[in-house]
Amino acid sequence: MKDMIDQKIASVAQLLLEADYAISLTGAGISTESGIPDFRGRSGIWKEFNPILYGNIETMKRDPSFFWKLAKRIAPTLLKARPNPGHYALAELERMGIIKSIITQNIDGLHQLAGSKIVFEVHGSLHNFTCMKCEANYTREEIIPKIFKEVPKCDKCGGFLKPDVVLFGESLPLDQINYSQVAALEADLMLIAGSALEVIPVNQLPQTVINQGGKLVIINDEPTWLDDHAEIVIHEKTGNILPKIVEELKKLF
Ligand SMILES: NC(=O)c1ccc[n+]([C@@H]2O[C@H](COP(=O)([O-])OP(=O)(O)OC[C@H]3O[C@@H](n4cnc5c(N)ncnc54)[C@H](O)[C@@H]3O)[C@@H](O)[C@H]2O)c1
Ligand SMILES: [Zn+2]
Repeated sequence: MKDMIDQKIASVAQLLLEADYAISLTGAGISTESGIPDFRGRSGIWKEFNPILYGNIETMKRDPSFFWKLAKRIAPTLLKARPNPGHYALAELERMGIIKSIITQNIDGLHQLAGSKIVFEVHGSLHNFTCMKCEANYTREEIIPKIFKEVPKCDKCGGFLKPDVVLFGESLPLDQINYSQVAALEADLMLIAGSALEVIPVNQLPQTVINQGGKLVIINDEPTWLDDHAEIVIHEKTGNILPKIVEELKKLF
C-alpha cells in the first residue's frame, strides 16, 4: 500500500514537471488539518449551526443576529488557525514555478498566510466586512473584537455588516470566477486538493480542463465523483501527500 502511494506521488511529481500550465483547486479539506472543520465532516459546529440556515443571505437580511451567532462560535477557531504543511507545499510549488495559481473555495485566507501569491477566492474572504446599507468597508481586525459583545454595526450609518464571503443564496464574485475560468482554460493540469467537488459552479472547472485536453490529479481522503476522470487519485490527507510531492519534485529539478 505504502509503495503504491509512493509510486503515485512520484507520478504526480512527473506530471507536474511536464505540465506547461498547472493550477490547483482547493476546498475545505485542505484546511481541516489546520483545525477548521469542513461541512461534510459533521463537526459539532455545523451540527449546532447549520450553515445553510445560519449562513444564508435571506436569514442575514431578515435578522442578522442569527449569522453573528454562528460567527461568534466559529471565529475563535478561524482566528487561531495557521497554515498546515499542505498549504505550505502549494506555496512552494508556486515559488518553484510549477503551479501558476490556486482557485480556492475556502474563505480562511490560509493559502496567502502560507505564502501563495495568486489565489482566486471564488467564495470570497473573511478578511473584510461591508455595510449592507452604505457599502462602507471594514477590516476583520476592526470588527472581530466587537462580535463577542454585540451584533456589529456600521460606524457611519448604523447599518448591518456582512463579511465579504459568499453566503448561501448569493451569487459568486464575478471577477474571481472569471479569473478561475481563464486559468482552467489555460491549464493542462489541475491538482485538486481537499474538495468533495460538490459545490457548483466551481466543480465544473475540472471538466473545463478535461475538455481542453488537460489532466486532473485528485488528492482527497474520500472518493469524489470525478475520480474516474482523473489521471491519478490519492485517497490520503493533503497535509501528508502535498509536501511529499514537493520533495519528489525537488529530486527531479
Ligand atoms: N476552511 C474554509 O474556508 C471552509 C471550511 C468549511 C466550509 N467551507 C465552504 O464550504 C464549502 C464546502 O465545499 P468543499 O468541497 O470545499 O468542502 P467539502 O466539505 O465539501 O469537502 C471537503 C472534502 O475534503 C475531504 N477532506 C477533509 N479533510 C481532508 C484532508 N486533511 N485531506 C484530504 N481530504 C480531506 C473530505 O472528506 C471532503 O471530501 C466550500 O464552498 C467552502 O466555501 C470553507
Ligand atoms: Zn453603513
